[in-house]
Amino acid sequence: MTTLLINIKEVLQVRGTAIANVAGEAMKTLPILQNGYIYIVDDVISDVGIMANIEIASADKIIDCTGKIVLPTWCDSHTHLVYAGNRAQEFVDRINGLSYEEIANRGGGILNSAKKLQETSEDELFVQSAKRLEEVMRMGTGAIEIKSGYGLTTEAELKMLRVAKRLKETYNFAIKTTFLGAHAVPANYKGNQDGYMDLVINEMLPKVAAENLAEYVDIFCEKGYFTLKDTERLLKAAQHYNLIPKIHVNQFNAFGGVALGVKYNALSVDHLEELNDADIEALQGSNTMPVALPSCSYFLSIPYTPARKLMDAGLPVALATDYNPGSTPSGNMNFVVSTACIKMKMTPEEAINAATINGAYAMGLSETHGSITVGKAANLIITKEIESYNVLPYAFGDTNIEQVLINGKVI
Ligand code: NIG
Ligand code: FE
Repeated sequence: MTTLLINIKEVLQVRGTAIANVAGEAMKTLPILQNGYIYIVDDVISDVGIMANIEIASADKIIDCTGKIVLPTWCDSHTHLVYAGNRAQEFVDRINGLSYEEIANRGGGILNSAKKLQETSEDELFVQSAKRLEEVMRMGTGAIEIKSGYGLTTEAELKMLRVAKRLKETYNFAIKTTFLGAHAVPANYKGNQDGYMDLVINEMLPKVAAENLAEYVDIFCEKGYFTLKDTERLLKAAQHYNLIPKIHVNQFNAFGGVALGVKYNALSVDHLEELNDADIEALQGSNTMPVALPSCSYFLSIPYTPARKLMDAGLPVALATDYNPGSTPSGNMNFVVSTACIKMKMTPEEAINAATINGAYAMGLSETHGSITVGKAANLIITKEIESYNVLPYAFGDTNIEQVLINGKVI
């Protein structure tokens, strides 16, 4: 099956050779072809160029993209998309004055989601999660990371990861999975945090590894959740199973989690709403991607990750949704890109780089996703007729997407 996209007003993020990520100043540049074409063979990009040089005369399917922009699909490197039910009541409680912390302290928050998930069958959890995945695909997401962390028992954590695996197989979609058993201390371990860490490390981790259910390991390193000591214990243990860290740090407090992540070669450190100079120094010279989650800041009314500061320090930044029932009940990457421009003062070029190539890097997919490059997956967004790509973040709340191609097929 061959597909040819012709008369594309602008092809964004065209990278001749595959690059791992873009950092600092380089994030300001978004490589573009004017009046271009893209030729797809089966599920892969086979040729990209300008219409003046096109040599391909026919294809099984031809899509005329006159007036439209084509870009790689979004790479959402941080989600908790597999969850049960919702926490709309807590949303209302927050409107009425309770804080996120107060809700968590009275047994709401992550523990509320864990209770719901434990009571939900694996099949039902699949159905609820599949609906979310289909929605985000329609909104232009073409690769995604999914975490466990709402199970908090061995069985329920495995259930979450099995559902994520089933999504990957059912949809033939790029899904990377992360084991986040250390997301919150469950009620039956209250006052016995070490005991829960023992369970996570000695029972959950070996089972996750044995069933090959995750490639990455995560922990909510935060006051009131897990300490630096817990984090180091977990990351050390995870090394034995070749699980690479992608960790939640600096959401509410900065106390050294970033440096610890870097020490253990974390692929990414995520949240970073609170960030100090020592964190930035720790990231410099590392291979760790800082990941900002602006929809979470928006929904919880907490500070935005200082992306400008990171980029000015020569560092890369990736953008992701954090799609989850508590802090970010939205998987809309278009909103993330827009909010990054509006609230974090990222330019459209920086935000698009952060949500494509750098997002791919933050989940170990930069060889196959995140740019329009010959040999990469034919995962493409075709916009409506728009004046320029600046309209994508400008028209916040609107996706301006006309069609999405995943593995060469229009969805
Ligand atoms: O990334 N911060 C930790 N975990 C999630 C939210 C958890 C929840 O409230 O359910 C996050 O924001
Ligand atoms: Fe998260």
